[in-house]
Amino acid sequence: MSAGIDQIIFVTSKGKHALEDYFDLSPNLENWLRKRGKDALADKVRHIGSFCEVMSVRQKEPLGLGHAVYCARNMIGNEKFAVCLGDEIFPPWDEINQTKAPLKKLVDAAVELNSSTVGVVEIPLQDSASYGILDLGGKDLGDVPLKVKRTVEKPKPEAAPSKYAIIGRYVFDSSLFDALKETKPGVGGEIQLTDAMDKLCAAGKLHGVLLKGCRYDIGNPLFYMKAQIDAALRRPELSGRVREYMKSI
Ligand code: G1P
Repeated sequence: MSAGIDQIIFVTSKGKHALEDYFDLSPNLENWLRKRGKDALADKVRHIGSFCEVMSVRQKEPLGLGHAVYCARNMIGNEKFAVCLGDEIFPPWDEINQTKAPLKKLVDAAVELNSSTVGVVEIPLQDSASYGILDLGGKDLGDVPLKVKRTVEKPKPEAAPSKYAIIGRYVFDSSLFDALKETKPGVGGEIQLTDAMDKLCAAGKLHGVLLKGCRYDIGNPLFYMKAQIDAALRRPELSGRVREYMKSI
């Protein structure tokens, strides 16, 4: 999360408090650290607990990503908002992500084009059934965002309209909620965000933005491990010991 985000809404479910707790203040821990002279750590704890306003809403039944986003409609009202899927990470140490954070790229394009925007990457066609895919009318997506003709959730490769896959970063306005309200269960019997986005396409109100920086899909255990290792190697207090350990095995 970068500077400029001042409100986060987590869509959670029963028994999942970890995120709200993490972003809460922890006076006991902070005092404990200060008493032992660990002010730098205490400052870190305070910073995490106070750098933005955190709200949460429960998704009471797992009815799909579209339904999860719809659960936040009353908190968002008429504001423009971003949707970030927590299992997709764009590490801040990557040079491209650092130059311009993916979300910032999407926000800037949304403002400039007065349109909703969705971040995509190019994938091998055989992986299309794992993603929402954009129909760009056969055009190649470069640095300039393109109007999306259609969005298709998890098509088989032979039905995929392109290689441009949605990777969990979106910017919308409240018209998405009207679309979601009308969206029936789709792939997997779930209310799909991609199906609601398809309704925005009909109004010419969705643009695809190519994201080029490093990304980890941590829903995949291998990439989860890679993300952990890469993060550890970039922390001065850990990198030497992690390197040594990896050599030893
Ligand atoms: C969800 C979306 C899909 C998107 C993907 C990105 O799928 O439904 O359109 O491409 O996230 O990670 P899920 O991975 O939850 O099955």
